[in-house]
Amino acid sequence: MEGGIPEGHMVLVCGSAGTMKSTLAYYILYHEILEGSSSGLYITLEQSKDNLLTHMKGMGMDSSAVDAKLNILDLSQMRKEILTEDKNMWMDFLSHLIQLIQGVENCKLVVLDSLNALYSLVNFQNPRNELFLFFEKFRDLGTTTFFIAESGSEKVSCGEYGLEDFMCDGIIRLTMRSQGEGFNRYIRCVKMRSSRLDTSFFPLLVTETGFKIIQK
Ligand SMILES: Nc1ncnc2c1ncn2[C@@H]1O[C@H](COP(=O)(O)OP(=O)(O)O)[C@@H](O)[C@H]1O
Ligand SMILES: [Mg+2]
Repeated sequence: MEGGIPEGHMVLVCGSAGTMKSTLAYYILYHEILEGSSSGLYITLEQSKDNLLTHMKGMGMDSSAVDAKLNILDLSQMRKEILTEDKNMWMDFLSHLIQLIQGVENCKLVVLDSLNALYSLVNFQNPRNELFLFFEKFRDLGTTTFFIAESGSEKVSCGEYGLEDFMCDGIIRLTMRSQGEGFNRYIRCVKMRSSRLDTSFFPLLVTETGFKIIQK
């Protein structure tokens, strides 16, 4: 990938359940913040903040090391409440979300976990237009943003509507394949604008010290 994900890119992180989408996105955020000077925001609509932080601590990422610079916005509870309310509040909700991100000082990285959970809050009238507006609002923020998308490995497109694949600058796909009695994890960068790419599947190991990608 010629050294990494370019700043300001919008990247889809897709794969089926348990492929470590959340862990990988958090890992990138955590290490950027730990080793750099920027702040970040992890927006969770799936897992509660407590559940997320407990899992990440188990993966060797103690949140106390990044403290106030890695902000978690827990919308998992709100999601349950919104589900019963007006699904046409989408644009208001989106504007509010963008304001919240802008309110985080020196915020350079954002994770939205997940697009599918967000979609469950919305009645799109015209997905092509509304999704375009959604991604443009994030692009205007200028942050490097990771959108997590639940997507089975048999699906050709990564986003639910197929449009996300075109609107985002990059796509990282995580998969698992059974091997004997167990399974192996793989990572594949399908797309990364302005980078020369090897789009093969690379074995992804989870070690004591973090993720390792096995190069050929
Ligand atoms: N301490 C650990 N070491 C290695 N793998 C773990 C550990 N704890 C959980 N896992 C794995 O992490 C997976 C969940 O990761 P997660 O990032 O939440 O996946 P996703 O977001 O793709 O659903 C679990 O299915 C489990 O296989
Ligand atoms: Mg997840």
